[in-house]
Amino acid sequence: AAAEKGGYATFMEKEIHDQPHAVRDTLLGRTDEEGRLTLDELRIPEEKLREIDRITIVACGTAAYAGMVAKYAIERWTRIPVEVSLAHEFRYCDPIVDERTLVVSISQSGETMDTLMAVKHARELGALTISICNTHGSTIPRESDAVLYTHAGPEIAVASTKAFLAQITASYILGLYLAQLRGGTYVDDIKAVLKELAEVPGKIETVLERMGRVKEIAGFMADTRAVLFLGRHVGYPVALEGALKLKELAYIHAEGFAAGELKHGPIALIEPGQPVFVVVPSPSSEHGLHGKVVSNIQEIRARGARTLVIAEDGDEAVVPFSDEVIRVPATAPLLAPLLTVVPLQVFALWLSTAKGLDVDQPRNLAKSVTVE
Ligand code: G6P
Repeated sequence: AAAEKGGYATFMEKEIHDQPHAVRDTLLGRTDEEGRLTLDELRIPEEKLREIDRITIVACGTAAYAGMVAKYAIERWTRIPVEVSLAHEFRYCDPIVDERTLVVSISQSGETMDTLMAVKHARELGALTISICNTHGSTIPRESDAVLYTHAGPEIAVASTKAFLAQITASYILGLYLAQLRGGTYVDDIKAVLKELAEVPGKIETVLERMGRVKEIAGFMADTRAVLFLGRHVGYPVALEGALKLKELAYIHAEGFAAGELKHGPIALIEPGQPVFVVVPSPSSEHGLHGKVVSNIQEIRARGARTLVIAEDGDEAVVPFSDEVIRVPATAPLLAPLLTVVPLQVFALWLSTAKGLDVDQPRNLAKSVTVE
């Protein structure tokens, strides 16, 4: 069993360390020599994909958060409106879907019943369906028009880690491919994004090398009763995923918020000593988002919060208001989730361990939920 875990104590720790490979392997073989994306594996006529005027992503749990990241990227690159729908809500909300709608399902196992039923419903309504999936030959890809496999390798720990990064990577590829097909204004930037993406696996290695301090922080927090997570733009789904990991693994009440929403309610929760993770956008983000999140950190710090801040290398603006700064290498703002989520996974892993819990098999959860 120790060998299966690659020398790590748990599958989850191993899978967190597999993440550079998961991203690299998911990118592999999907570009030609000229750096153009080639997704012949989809076997959908290009004209059909060109006609798409709406995208709905259906998924559950961590996969749905990958879908939320995908929405920001795909809308930005293709200008096609993208909606993210929890798969178990989709069928029951009389969804607006027709032949020009692309329904993208995201599922690690390919067996999640809620997601499968959403895909079947979408097909009945005439939508084109693409499955982003990690498991060859599983049910959801078989029930879809096409599949784009993630190459994360088997994920054993119940709580998803490497599959999440691979799902985000695959949805970037899909978004860039659609942008390439449609030839919009964004087409010139595709190569630049692909180049940035190719550098991400090495940057994840760098993040992993720096995780000693995060392990130490988690080790001191076994008695913590609640943790809050703030993020903005693509950092928002990262905050939600950080909170989900903590609930699943450490059974701690955790909640993720969009940082802009803070003043509309959650700030009332801040009391002295309350730990708050903040996923800070890159200083190179548009619309001054970085400065806005730095102000949020300042506001909660003034009310006594203990601020655990995930920020890009060289971002000095956060330092005066942070109890801890966890550094990640710089990348394109839309790609940042592949780096910023890693410390949150590591934190949940070690906090669960500090509480003496079963990291790989948390109570009440199943790896794949095959009932509705
Ligand atoms: C279960 C797992 C989660 C996972 C979700 C979706 O609830 O415990 O970790 O995110 O199902 O699974 P899928 O296989 O469809 O990605």
